[in-house]
Amino acid sequence: MNGQVLIVTGTGTGVGKTVVTAAVAALALATGRRVAVLKPAQTGVARDEPGDLDDVARLAPGVTGRELGRYPDPLAPATAARRAGLPPVTPAAAAAAARDLAADHDLVLVEGAGGLLVRMTDDGTLADVAVLPGAPVLVVATAGLGTLNTPR
Ligand SMILES: Nc1ncnc2c1ncn2[C@@H]1O[C@H](COP(=O)(O)OP(=O)(O)OP(=O)(O)O)[C@@H](O)[C@H]1O
Ligand SMILES: [Mg+2]
Repeated sequence: MNGQVLIVTGTGTGVGKTVVTAAVAALALATGRRVAVLKPAQTGVARDEPGDLDDVARLAPGVTGRELGRYPDPLAPATAARRAGLPPVTPAAAAAAARDLAADHDLVLVEGAGGLLVRMTDDGTLADVAVLPGAPVLVVATAGLGTLNTPR
């Protein structure tokens, strides 16, 4: 693995993970780095609808996008996969994809679905994806007073 893997998670859904991912990607691209964004499991959008990677491509042109699984229900990936009758994306598969992208990119940003401990499979979460390549985690939060102390 050559490039750096960075896991982007948040204190919830809709807190700005995709926008922060795109901002970090755009900054790295502007300094000449090769950047990929991996969205292991995209939930809440149909097959023919735009997903988070479309936002990233619009905000950070030149980025490589990779999505491993798509499930229409706006639920935790494990539940959404079960309801769709599709196999879930395992943390091991996500970590392997991140490693593959890191072979020919300087920076690989991995955007989770919801928060760090949302189930990807019955016994796996985004935290497991972070552990596999030993990647740092960037937590996106709302800017409200007391956010750091809010139990989630
Ligand atoms: N810093 C910001 N200022 C204003 N609007 C923002 C900011 N960050 C994000 N938004 C808006 O908030 C909404 C949610 O942002 P975003 O899609 O990045 O969240 P997310 O955490 O990735 O959501 P999801 O959980 O669905 O993946 C979007 O409409 C986005 O344009
Ligand atoms: Mg998002």
